[in-house]
Amino acid sequence: MTDKLIIFDTTLRDGEQSPGASMTRDEKLRIARQLERLRVDVIEAGFAASSNGDFDCVKTIASAIRDSTICSLARTNEGDIARAAEALKGAASGRIHLFIATSALHMEKKLRMTPDEVLAQTRASVRQARNLMADVEFSAEDGFRSDTDFLCRVLEAAIAEGARTINVPDTVGYAIPQLYGHFIKTLRERVPNSDKAIWSVHCHNDLGMAVANSLAGVKIGGARQVECTINGLGERAGNCALEEVVMAVKTRRDHFALDVGIATEHIVPASRLVSQITGFVVQPNKAVVGANAFAHASGIHQDGVLKARDTYEIMRAEDVGWSANKIVLGKLSGRNAFRQRLQQLGVTLESEGELVAAFAKFKELADRKSEIFDEDILALVFDESVTPEKEFYALVSLSQQSATGAMPRAKVAFTMGGRQVCGEAEGNGPVDASLKAIETQARSGAEMVLYSVNAISGNTESQGEVTVRLQNAGRIVNGVGADPDIVIASAKAYLSALNRLQNKSDRVVAQSGV
Ligand code: KIV
Ligand code: ZN
Repeated sequence: MTDKLIIFDTTLRDGEQSPGASMTRDEKLRIARQLERLRVDVIEAGFAASSNGDFDCVKTIASAIRDSTICSLARTNEGDIARAAEALKGAASGRIHLFIATSALHMEKKLRMTPDEVLAQTRASVRQARNLMADVEFSAEDGFRSDTDFLCRVLEAAIAEGARTINVPDTVGYAIPQLYGHFIKTLRERVPNSDKAIWSVHCHNDLGMAVANSLAGVKIGGARQVECTINGLGERAGNCALEEVVMAVKTRRDHFALDVGIATEHIVPASRLVSQITGFVVQPNKAVVGANAFAHASGIHQDGVLKARDTYEIMRAEDVGWSANKIVLGKLSGRNAFRQRLQQLGVTLESEGELVAAFAKFKELADRKSEIFDEDILALVFDESVTPEKEFYALVSLSQQSATGAMPRAKVAFTMGGRQVCGEAEGNGPVDASLKAIETQARSGAEMVLYSVNAISGNTESQGEVTVRLQNAGRIVNGVGADPDIVIASAKAYLSALNRLQNKSDRVVAQSGV
């Protein structure tokens, strides 16, 4: 007899809280569609009350996604709960996720509330949320560092008021697997009505143990929901990685004896999509989704794998969505073949106009690059210059000169709010000169805090994918750009980051409290 482990993905909420990972509504919708394809059980689409933008994202995702439950985070106040319920109105299946801190430290220093006030607010908020929606989850923020007796009283009250899921976050990543597993077990044993709720784990990765802690919460504690994000994206060191926790439970079914509904062949495309949209590059040696996760470099390993795969491989690369670098389209491919390939890759462009623009970019790329891989197509459709009319800044042209012993010089033409401008500058290298040329006109005053280049498909013919992280007036944003010419990719990434700085948002961060 096995039972099911519910996979709750919070890439779009907790993941987005990672500095620089903020996403537009369209980007969130694209990720939500991929999560639905993955058959994630619950998608936390955002925190509806945090900003009008987030409200709109939750609402859009709630009406577009049919096969996963859509959830909105809410603090334990009337306004947040009403806003979450409003945003979730169109959902086929909706959930309100309430949270309030229960550790002495958070209650006293952050909330400035007494334990009795927190308990009363828990009761009132779950009751209010249950009047609006059948599916309510309650989270005790900083639960792992909370007093056990007090936490038991709070969780008992939340269940008595009708919370169906009880989540015990390790908000600051302080837990150790054995301790966290036993903590969940103790809570389940001591809360009198614990059998009326599904218990959930939510672990942060500050000590690198988010996945291990979550698995201990499942195995030792009996939790049946794991909260996680694609690539482990999230604040500080991130959250529990969906791909790792899912593949651990699937690969070691002998140990966990649990069913997971995830369509694992969509894991790698989901990882790429999130990485491409947020600009958070996946480290090559990352479990499951890193470029080296299935590469065998040593002769002994290669020999073993050729003789019998399971000598060194515990999972099959194709089961998590790794496809060999196939040449998928070429110069002579038509628009229908392009459309079809996009469909196979799970990409839906919003309008025929976007398809025409993306196809024109594809033809341009095919003229410059002999082999076009899936990765190239994905980079191309996510390139903001496909929809320049939607962007404040868009690249028009770039030329630069560099030679040994000479100071590199660049000339960049781009549009700024529909008006074409041109900047020229010298720099330490061609990339530096190009970005300085942009700044002569944009004058953003932003500080660059990260610049990285990654080859999309592995050799020098590959497109370079550049990530630029900019900081300005307390905001951090990432921009991504791809092109076979890394100087052009850099200019695109820089303009994309400037576009994000342009998109101001009044978001409230979840852990910032009531
Ligand atoms: O880490 C945390 O405590 C959270 C809650 C808001 C669920 O993300
Ligand atoms: Zn969290």
